[in-house]
Amino acid sequence: MPRMDAFMIRGGTPLNGTVPISGSKNSALPLLAATLMADGPTRLDGVPRLSDIDSMIKLLGELGCHVQRGEAVDGLDGPLTVEVRDAESCEARYDIVKTMRASVCVIGPMLARRGRITFSIPGGCAIGDRPIDLHLRGLEKLGARFTHDGGNIVGHVDGRLRGTTVYLGGASGPTVLGTINVMSAATLAEGSTTIVGAACEPEVSDCANLLNKMGAKITGMGGPIIRIEGVDELQAVEHRVIPDRIEAGTFLIAGAITGGDLKLTNANAGHLHALIDRLADCGVSVSHDDTSMTVHGNDATITHTEFATQPYPGFPTDLQAQLMALLCFGDGMSVITERIFPDRFTHVAELNRMGARIRKEGPSAFVAGTEKLQPARVMCSDLRASAALVLAALGIHGETRVDRIYHIDRGYEAIEAKLQNVGADIERVVVDQ
Ligand code: EPZ
Repeated sequence: MPRMDAFMIRGGTPLNGTVPISGSKNSALPLLAATLMADGPTRLDGVPRLSDIDSMIKLLGELGCHVQRGEAVDGLDGPLTVEVRDAESCEARYDIVKTMRASVCVIGPMLARRGRITFSIPGGCAIGDRPIDLHLRGLEKLGARFTHDGGNIVGHVDGRLRGTTVYLGGASGPTVLGTINVMSAATLAEGSTTIVGAACEPEVSDCANLLNKMGAKITGMGGPIIRIEGVDELQAVEHRVIPDRIEAGTFLIAGAITGGDLKLTNANAGHLHALIDRLADCGVSVSHDDTSMTVHGNDATITHTEFATQPYPGFPTDLQAQLMALLCFGDGMSVITERIFPDRFTHVAELNRMGARIRKEGPSAFVAGTEKLQPARVMCSDLRASAALVLAALGIHGETRVDRIYHIDRGYEAIEAKLQNVGADIERVVVDQ
């Protein structure tokens, strides 16, 4: 029987105190990919220690980069320095790509800088089919050519990419990593590019800010139309990754679900308007200043709410499962609609094993609040679904075992240490599974 890490969580205790929020995983991954285009060593501060980041570092290593992690300063993650030392290897192999779909964001930088990439087609994942057609279509408009070769996509560019107008809207709205891929590639293209239907997520702006420091000419990031004036080269710089808005949102919900007051430092409330609004609607208040947020779970009575996931600044799909966990403890009926990844509901069955009353119908879930949640043995299926199970366990009196927590380690840095520091009884154990 395989042995795997699990969490034993004895919940029901209000969490109180301060939680430092890490740098954003979903920003750091494309920032790391963007370093492939710079001359010299790029230094990134605040890159979290996560298994997805390790996978990206491994991929950059295979693509000829020297990557070094500096010493931690004041308990903060040491800076990562990345420098291209050998531009010969141009293959992103299946065994890396299959563990982390975000490796797709090396395609744009590789085509722009080296003119070729062989990329293993990413497989399916627990949140449904995740195509990359928009990435490829956008890069093709810039002049790249793609062929299929036994499970690989082989991309090449004759000469240099050429700027043009690219429409990137898809059936489910804009694409975050697709926008970043095309935007990154266009920085080194000849002439100017306009991306219409661009994703507006803060991670797109963070990447544009890094590229502009490197010498790129990007305007309009954060909005649906981004303009890029191509330049001949990019130079290595230093940059700090933005705070992780999804980790921050998860800890706001941890305060609410346990009835505690949690202060989050290195947190940007400006990136979480939609969550703060829905929390207020179901009875939980959040206060903030420029760099911190506090959730007041102590005096909260959870009721119910309705929301649909949407592209930024709408409610993030990456917080859907966690808010669902909170609403299981509420009073009344909540309605949740998933518009970005309609299959992203694997947490429903596990929450129901804990006594939740959730009924799924198409892309919507109806959550009837109950006081009868109980500890159970549950299993993680994807990163955010796992976070929802941990949150539910923290809110339930008694001992819950959460299996397969390697999913959590992909995206939450030192989650049990951060929870223990604010009073949670959570322990990592190795179990037969
Ligand atoms: C990013 O994935 C995030 N990943 C996801 O976070 C997040 O859920 C997602 O954006 C949406 O916010 C990273 O940043 C590493 P999309 P991405 O392209 O960019 C469809 C997490 O838990 N689509 O914006 O891959 C797609 O199927 C992860 O941290 C196409 O149809 O997502 C979806 O319905 C999971 N064709 C919609 O667009 C394409 O070529 C939005 O997906 C690309 C996407």
